[in-house]
Amino acid sequence: MAVVWDMSQWTQAWRTDSLQPTVRSSGTRTTTSGTAMYGRTAGGANQSVTNGTSNGGANSGGGVSGGAQGHDKLKIGFCTDLDKSVLVNNFEKRGWHQVNGDDDWHFYWAGVQTCRNIFSVDSGYRMHDNQMINHFPNHYELSRKDLLVKNIKRYRKDLERDGNPLAEKTESNNSSGTRYLYLDFVPTTFVLPADYNMFVEEYRKFPLSTWIMKPCGKSQGAGIFLINKLSKLKKWSREAKGPFHPQIAKESYVISRYIDNPLLIGGKKFDLRLYVLVASFRPLKAYLFKQGFCRFCTVKYDTSVTELDNMYVHLTNVSVQKHGGEYNTLHGGKWSVQNLALYLEGTRGKEVTDRLFGAISWLIVHSLRAVAPVMASDRHCFECYGYDIIIDNALKPWLVEVNASPSLTSTTVNDRILKYKLIDNILSVVLPPDGVPDVRWNKVPSADALGNFELLIDEELAAQDEQHQNSSSNTHSKTSKMGSRWK
Ligand SMILES: Nc1ncnc2c1ncn2[C@@H]1O[C@H](COP(=O)(O)OP(=O)(O)O)[C@@H](O)[C@H]1O
Ligand SMILES: [Mg+2]
Repeated sequence: MAVVWDMSQWTQAWRTDSLQPTVRSSGTRTTTSGTAMYGRTAGGANQSVTNGTSNGGANSGGGVSGGAQGHDKLKIGFCTDLDKSVLVNNFEKRGWHQVNGDDDWHFYWAGVQTCRNIFSVDSGYRMHDNQMINHFPNHYELSRKDLLVKNIKRYRKDLERDGNPLAEKTESNNSSGTRYLYLDFVPTTFVLPADYNMFVEEYRKFPLSTWIMKPCGKSQGAGIFLINKLSKLKKWSREAKGPFHPQIAKESYVISRYIDNPLLIGGKKFDLRLYVLVASFRPLKAYLFKQGFCRFCTVKYDTSVTELDNMYVHLTNVSVQKHGGEYNTLHGGKWSVQNLALYLEGTRGKEVTDRLFGAISWLIVHSLRAVAPVMASDRHCFECYGYDIIIDNALKPWLVEVNASPSLTSTTVNDRILKYKLIDNILSVVLPPDGVPDVRWNKVPSADALGNFELLIDEELAAQDEQHQNSSSNTHSKTSKMGSRWK
């Protein structure tokens, strides 16, 4: 079974890769103009907002509404496809006014489809320097279940080929073969139908394992089921090909090893929903929101075969659990990550708890690095991802999936406060200090602007620090952020 990671090896590997994340406070605007990559200029788009950009440093950083006045004068137009108060209230607090997608907008909180349309070559749309949008055009490289795994597999292979110590593997042992020492953070996964034969080979090696089938293009627990016998998969496949399910037959699925030893609290399974903000993929600039939460099942965990189809036991999605008789509308089956950390420190000790949170940061950074080369890192874009992570009972975190449009629906009062703060902090991280969208900004938010985000990685700053260290003995103060700021 998975061993708890050796922290010294882990930090060593991090250093080996010379990517120790650093934190610096700055808010300078640079003249770098790595701007529009796609199509024509936005209809009627004017540059007028740039005229006032040095206006009073009206930063809304740290979650205050101080920037609203300045923005009002600049007439920043926002557009949103989602009629959510946590969004609209945040935009209006900044003095922005709502416009339509056809009008001249500066900030668009779009659905993924709108974003795809805007960036499609056919649309001929070309953004101007004062426009920002909340998705990268090909976010699906990270958020589609099959592509995520494909990219991570490729990333590990590339590192292995280059002889990078990060791709080190364990000694082969007959029962479970080899595995990556540091990059083994997604459950073994195959895409069906394409990888069916490989799956069968793996299944035969571990005939007692349980597997989870998930449609690649769905979310919220829809279409998911567990299997523990090949015959069940074959039966499903026969039925799916039949005349009654023509839509299923066309869909691709992933089949993943089911993490059957999740950490339980009060006898119940839970997973983590963490928010990760990416301001740029190349160079990689990513931030972790400290107020993630645990999502609990409402029914006690039970691995018996009779419970295999009971989704209240196995799937932690709120969209599933809220239909159960035991669902509690007051706390919504949620626990803050801070509570989890306190609980784990009390029951398992501080060292292993720190190691767990370090390992979580580690897997997030490497999942992002795995997709960075294939992402269209347009400077108009940022994206806030919802990471689903399961912790097993050896306190090893597993990446289950990444959502490009994590739910902004609030199921409880605390949820609403959290999501409002999340949006506020996203805005202050991705916008320049004066609060006006501008792709020429160097995307180095001040410590205040980070709010509840902590820096996971900024490759640009790390490279600068390294250069600085090489040329001078007077080094900047360096802070490794791995797992240090969760409490
Ligand atoms: N490999 C796995 N092992 C154990 N539980 C899993 C696994 N994959 C998914 N789950 C459970 O199923 C839920 C839904 O899976 P997920 O991949 O997040 O799909 P969806 O897009 O439907 O949310 C997860 O939140 C988790 O509780
Ligand atoms: Mg999910």
